[in-house]
Amino acid sequence: MPFFSHKLMVRNRNNYNMQVKSLFVAFLLILSLNMFAQAPGKPLSAEGIKGESLFKLNCASCHAMNAKLVGPALQDVHLRRSEDWLLKWIKNNEKLRASGDKDAIAVYNENGKAAMNIFENLSDDQIKSIIGYIKEWTPPVKVGPVVGDPAEADSGFFSSSTLYILLFLIVILMVVLLILRRTKGQLQTTVNEVDGISVIEPTEPTAAQKRNAELKKRSNPTIVKLSIGTVVALSLALYGYKFGATEIGVQQGYAPEQPINFSHKIHAGEYKIDCKYCHSTVEKSKQASVPSVNTCMNCHKGVQAREKYNGEISPEIKKIYAAMDYDPDKPNGQQFGANPKPIKWIRVHNLPDHAYFNHSMHVKGVGLTCQTCHGPVQAMPVIQQYATLQMGWCINCHRERNIDVENNPYYEKLHAKIKAEKDNKSSNYSKYYTKDGKINVSAAQNGALECSKCHY
Ligand code: HEC
Ligand code: HEC
Ligand code: HEC
Ligand code: HEC
Ligand code: HEC
Ligand code: HEC
Repeated sequence: MPFFSHKLMVRNRNNYNMQVKSLFVAFLLILSLNMFAQAPGKPLSAEGIKGESLFKLNCASCHAMNAKLVGPALQDVHLRRSEDWLLKWIKNNEKLRASGDKDAIAVYNENGKAAMNIFENLSDDQIKSIIGYIKEWTPPVKVGPVVGDPAEADSGFFSSSTLYILLFLIVILMVVLLILRRTKGQLQTTVNEVDGISVIEPTEPTAAQKRNAELKKRSNPTIVKLSIGTVVALSLALYGYKFGATEIGVQQGYAPEQPINFSHKIHAGEYKIDCKYCHSTVEKSKQASVPSVNTCMNCHKGVQAREKYNGEISPEIKKIYAAMDYDPDKPNGQQFGANPKPIKWIRVHNLPDHAYFNHSMHVKGVGLTCQTCHGPVQAMPVIQQYATLQMGWCINCHRERNIDVENNPYYEKLHAKIKAEKDNKSSNYSKYYTKDGKINVSAAQNGALECSKCHY
C-alpha cells in the first residue's frame, strides 16, 4: 500500500477536521462552563453600587438580603414600608418608636427588642442609595456551597445544578457526535466518487480488502478517535468548570468543610470571645494568624460540652484532644502524650501572590472592623469568604474611604503638612480642606490607587 495516497490524504483530513472540531467544542464548553461558574447576580447601576458599599459599611454586620442575621432580611423591605418610613427608621429608629409609630414598635418587638444603631450621620441621599441598592438587589448565582443554605451546604461540586449542566453537556455531545458521523458518511461518498469507485456497482472485494473490512468492523478507527475525543472533551470541560469555579473565579461564599466543626457563631457570637484573642497577630503584622491547638486547650481542657452528648465528651472536642495527644482519663502528669500535631485548617481567603495586603495597616492604621471586610463572622457557624477579594473591591473602598488624618498618629506627618499649607492656595495640600474648613483626605488621594502599593 503506497504510503501517501490521495485517499489516505482525504481520510486524514477528514480525521483532522474532526479532531479540530472536537477540540473546538471542548473549548466552547470550557468557556460556557466558566460562564456558569462565575455568573454574578444582575449588575448594579452606579447608584446601586454606591448604595451597596454604604450598605456593606453600615448595615451588613446585622442585615443580609435573604437571611435573618441580627436584623430581619431586607430583600423587598421597600414593598412592605414606604420610603418616608424607611428614611425615618434608618436615621433614628428610637425616635420613630418613641413617636408611637405602630410598625416601628411591632418590628422592634418581633425581633426580640434588639436595638438597631442610629444613623444620624447618613444623609437622606445616602439612605436613598442604600434603599436603591435593596431594590436592585438580586440573589447571586451560587457557585460553591454557601453557608446558611442547608440544602446546598455540603453538596459542593456535585450539586444538582452541576448535574443539570452535565446532562445538558452530554446531550450536546451526542448531537455533535451524530453530526460528525453524518459528515463522515458524506465525505466517504465524496472520496469514493473521486476515486472512481461506484457505490451502485460494487466490485468483487479482494482478499486484502476483505481482511481490512473485517478489521474495520472490529475497531472502527474514527469511532475510537471520536470516543477518545469525547472523553477528553468531557474531562477538559469538567476540569474547566472546577477550575473556573474554584481557582481563578470569584470565591465569594467559599466555605470549605473544616477538620473540626469550629463555629464562629458559638465562639465570637454567643460567648463574645474577642477576634484578637484567637487571631492574635492581626494588629501587629500583615497576616492574621489562625490559633494553635494550645489556644483551644486554654478553654477546652475544661469545656467538654458533655451535657449535649449524654455525659460523653463532645466528639468534636475529642478531635482537639487527639491533635494535642491528650488523654483526660489518664492520671495527672501523664495526660499529654509525645506526639501533638497541628490541626490542618483549610484556608478560606487567598489572594494571588502578586497582590499585597496588610492587616495591621487596615485594622490598626485605618481602624476598620473585621466585619467591614469579613462580614458578620459572629453569626457564621461555618466561616465563609464574604467579599469578592477582587481588585475592584479593594479599589472601591480606597476611592470612598476617608482617612482620619487628625486623630490617628499614623498620619501625623501628613496632618502637619496639610495644616502648614492651609492658606497656600497653590499647594496640593490646601485642596484637602472642605468649604467649612474641615480636612477631608480619601485613601485614594493619599496614593492608595497606585499599582505598586498593591502589586509586588
Ligand atoms: C446593630 C445591628 C444593626 C445595624 C448595624 C443595622 N440594623 Fe437595621 N435592624 C436591626 C434590628 C435588630 C432590626 C429589627 C428591629 C429592631 O429590633 O429594632 C432592624 C430593622 C431594620 C429595618 C426594618 C425592617 C422591617 O422589616 O421593617 C430596616 C429597613 C433596617 N433595619 C435597615 C437598616 C439599614 C439600612 C442599616 C444600615 C444603614 C441598618 N439597618 C443597620 C439591626 C441593625
Ligand atoms: C476561639 C477562637 C476564635 C475566635 C474568637 C475567632 N476566630 Fe476566626 N478562626 C478561628 C479558627 C480556629 C479558624 C480556622 C478554622 C475555620 O476556618 O473555621 C478561624 C478562621 C477565621 C477566618 C478565615 C481564615 C481563612 O482561612 O481565610 C476569618 C476571616 C476569621 N476567622 C475571622 C474572625 C473574626 C472576624 C472574629 C471575631 C468576630 C474571629 N475570627 C474570632 C478561631 C477563632
Ligand atoms: C475562650 C474559651 C474558648 C476557646 C479559646 C475555644 N473555645 Fe471552643 N468553645 C468554648 C465554649 C464556651 C463552647 C460551648 C460549649 C458548650 O456548648 O457547652 C465551645 C464550643 C466548641 C465546640 C462545639 C462543641 C460541641 O460539640 O458542641 C467546638 C468544636 C469547639 N469549641 C472548638 C474549638 C477550637 C477548635 C478551638 C481553638 C481554635 C476553640 N474551640 C477555642 C470556648 C472556647
Ligand atoms: C480591609 C479589609 C480587611 C479587614 C478590615 C480585615 N481583613 Fe482579614 N483578610 C482580608 C483579606 C483581603 C484577606 C486575604 C489575605 C491574603 O490572602 O493574603 C484576609 C484574611 C484573613 C485571615 C486568613 C489569614 C490571612 O491573614 O491571610 C484571617 C484569619 C483574617 N483575615 C482575620 C481578620 C480579623 C480577625 C480581622 C479584624 C481584627 C480582619 N481579618 C480584618 C481583609 C481584611
Ligand atoms: C473597607 C475599606 C478597604 C478595603 C476593602 C481595602 N482597603 Fe486598603 N486601605 C483602606 C484605607 C482607608 C487605607 C488608608 C490609605 C492611606 O493610608 O493612604 C488603605 C490602605 C491600603 C494600602 C496602603 C496604601 C498606602 O498609601 O500606603 C494598601 C497597600 C492597601 N490598602 C491594599 C489593599 C488591598 C490589596 C485590598 C484588597 C484585597 C484592600 N486594601 C482593601 C481601606 C480599604
Ligand atoms: C488597592 C490595591 C490594588 C491596586 C491599587 C491595584 N491592584 Fe491590581 N489587583 C489587586 C488585587 C487584590 C488583585 C487580585 C484580584 C483577583 O484575583 O481577582 C489584583 C489583580 C490584578 C491583575 C490580575 C488580573 C486580575 O484581575 O486578576 C492585574 C493585571 C492588575 N491587578 C493590574 C493592576 C494595575 C495595572 C494597577 C494600577 C493601575 C493595579 N492593578 C492597582 C489589587 C490592587
